[in-house]
Amino acid sequence: MHAEIRHHGARWVVRDLAHNILYPTLINDRVINGKEETLAADDVVQFGKLQMRAIDMKAGEQPALLNRTPVPAALQDDDAKQRIATSGVHVTVKARTQQSWDKALEVVTLESANRPQQEPAMLALVRANHHMTHISHLEELLQSILADTIAALNAQRGSIILADPITGELSLRATLAPKLNPATPMKSFSRTLAARCFERGESLLSEDVNADAGLLLARSGRHGAMNSIITALLRTPRRRIGILHLDRGMMDDPFSENDLYYADAIAASVAVGIETAQLVEQQRDQFIQTVSTLARAVEMRDQYTGDHTRRVTEFSLALADELKLTPNEKYQIQIGTPLHDIGKIGIDDAILRKPGKLTHGEFEHMKTHTTKGATMLDTMMHLVPMIPIVRHHHERWDGTGYPDRLSHEQIPLIARIVSVTDAFDAMTSDRHYRPAMAADQAFLELIGKAGTHFDPGCVFAFMKIRQKIETMMKPA
Ligand SMILES: [Fe+2]
Repeated sequence: MHAEIRHHGARWVVRDLAHNILYPTLINDRVINGKEETLAADDVVQFGKLQMRAIDMKAGEQPALLNRTPVPAALQDDDAKQRIATSGVHVTVKARTQQSWDKALEVVTLESANRPQQEPAMLALVRANHHMTHISHLEELLQSILADTIAALNAQRGSIILADPITGELSLRATLAPKLNPATPMKSFSRTLAARCFERGESLLSEDVNADAGLLLARSGRHGAMNSIITALLRTPRRRIGILHLDRGMMDDPFSENDLYYADAIAASVAVGIETAQLVEQQRDQFIQTVSTLARAVEMRDQYTGDHTRRVTEFSLALADELKLTPNEKYQIQIGTPLHDIGKIGIDDAILRKPGKLTHGEFEHMKTHTTKGATMLDTMMHLVPMIPIVRHHHERWDGTGYPDRLSHEQIPLIARIVSVTDAFDAMTSDRHYRPAMAADQAFLELIGKAGTHFDPGCVFAFMKIRQKIETMMKPA
């Protein structure tokens, strides 16, 4: 992007591409902005701050390292800086890597012979691939990739930004900062560098964010107390899917080119897995849609007014969050809660819609909606994990519920959660045989039945998120 060196006829030529006033291309200290010049042996070419010397290999000379020299004083005037700052187009990039997907691992293999061994980084590569085959939830996958990469490259924070497959819009999907105080509100990535990496289609290292003229206007990096940033391109052989963004703080050494190579290799190796997880997630979304339609059919038969199913699912997910359930358990809740009463499809209308109290026989028939629902789900492989909710949402903490008279921890936690949220929403909904109860009173009812009817732990957690629940009660 800055300049190119090309073999032309029998000679080598240097051509400046950037027309950059602050960091120009120089040959032997002469600025060649926008021009092309022939390169001779022993010429010193300077791109920005980086100097290179042309060596005639036929002459048998050994390459020698050059010391970096500061930017010429003439180019440090405030006027030039000002022009760059206001144009906002220049971003200092220390190094960049291969653009293709399949070259990344090859580069690491070749380069590692010449570079200090980085066992943690190699280990992260292996682990990242291991995760591909063991983690099916996108969120969980992204978090584990970040955890490994942050540890391997000693970053203070990592973020994964993914592009929408249709609109291409970049959005933050995961962020992890194990070393930072979680109470500090901070931007987690530089939008400017992420967009640049994605648009250019290459991984970039920005060594010193604060000296970077292009970022003077883009404040997100500075607000996040970032000092050096790696933006590694997540790409598959088919397309660019996003950016793996890593940063180090003011107290740390800046990232090196070595770090960039490893981050780039990790990004290339995890991208296919991320894409697959995205596809699986899309399928899941469609599956959830189908399940919701099924659930609405039940809701209509049950004559609930309003969005009973939607609310109970939202309450259950909020309670699952509060109780720190795993992503898998949350998924069971998300799919299983709308289906908890699916067995009512098999209950006689006359009983289901009976306005008054049910007789003993009618109630016994009504109770079978739990076992009928479980039997229905048993035939659908993807719905088997949701059976505990369907079968056990009427069990009671003291063992007096149905159908299996389970008690305490024998009752699956996901079923104990739905038992609380379903009861709460039933109490606070208008039914054809009675008006809705006020939220205050319904909360008191739950407390009164904690330890007999309901799991006291679930009721306690539900009281803790009371404000959130009351917000969710308002119609969507
Ligand atoms: Fe039920």
